[in-house]
Amino acid sequence: MAVSNLAMGSAEISEIVAGLSADQKQISPKYFYDERGSQLFDQITQLPEYYLTNTELGIMRDNIDEMFAMVGKQASLIEFGSGSSLKTRILLEHVSELAAYVPVDISSEHLHASAQQIREQFPHVDVLPVVADFTQAFALPKPTVMPVRNIIYFPGSTIGNFEHDMAVDLLRVMYQEAGKGGALLIGVDLQKDADIIESAYNDSAGVTAEFNLNMLQHLNRDYGANFDVDEFAHSANYDEDKGRVVLELVSQADQSFAVGDTAFDIADGEAILTEYSHKYTLDGFASMASTAGLSVEKVWMDAKQLFSVQFLTRL
Ligand code: TRP
Repeated sequence: MAVSNLAMGSAEISEIVAGLSADQKQISPKYFYDERGSQLFDQITQLPEYYLTNTELGIMRDNIDEMFAMVGKQASLIEFGSGSSLKTRILLEHVSELAAYVPVDISSEHLHASAQQIREQFPHVDVLPVVADFTQAFALPKPTVMPVRNIIYFPGSTIGNFEHDMAVDLLRVMYQEAGKGGALLIGVDLQKDADIIESAYNDSAGVTAEFNLNMLQHLNRDYGANFDVDEFAHSANYDEDKGRVVLELVSQADQSFAVGDTAFDIADGEAILTEYSHKYTLDGFASMASTAGLSVEKVWMDAKQLFSVQFLTRL
């Protein structure tokens, strides 16, 4: 079994080796999400310090009627991501008369399981899952009822996990998939006091640390790596100048490790970059969106202005 796993993962192994060979060692955030990683991520969203999920949920609940009015009737709701979340349920409960609900995800297993749950809970909704990498243009399914417009839904401030140029490219894909008359409903985390942000990614229960470190276990198990996981530490710092959290795994000793046949040295205190989480100002996000041909029509925020849900249309 182990042998065929490794053979199947050889393209990934080359990608991992390339990332660890760069001046700034890095591992793609996609390796966070093995089964354990997905469980830990769900736990993160429920942590008291992790304000993002609860704040976004509150914004949705408080403004759902206005959101529905902007979405309109007979829209096709296209979610970038698998859409198993409570936020999606709030939308589907309140946005009546949808032409279709189209969750888009690269993981077929995850997508079909959550699509099935949505069908059971919302039997009147035409649920049309699409297996695709949503960073590239993809073909939309044809709903039974012709949609009046497409609404792209992208919650969770996942846009923040893309660096500027990649975020613009992704917004361009959304522009294209929205089509004529289409719009976006997107969750965007906001710049704020560094303490609030840093404690969200350094929770006292240590779940985010475990989530970050789990990536090394995942690589050991499935991609022929031999990290000594105990010799790495989680780190999350907010870079105020760049407006982003930098998630890293910091080596606790001068040590070596291997991935497949490739050996690496890492110095005591040297970091492996695992992810960024960008925080925006309202102006900063609007100007990035305009580069992709999108205009911010409406911004909803919580009272403390921690987080925003924004409605964008094509310029
Ligand atoms: N997009 C969210 C954020 O940046 C969720 C998330 C993605 C996250 N990757 C993460 C949270 C890694 C904690 C750690 O906050």
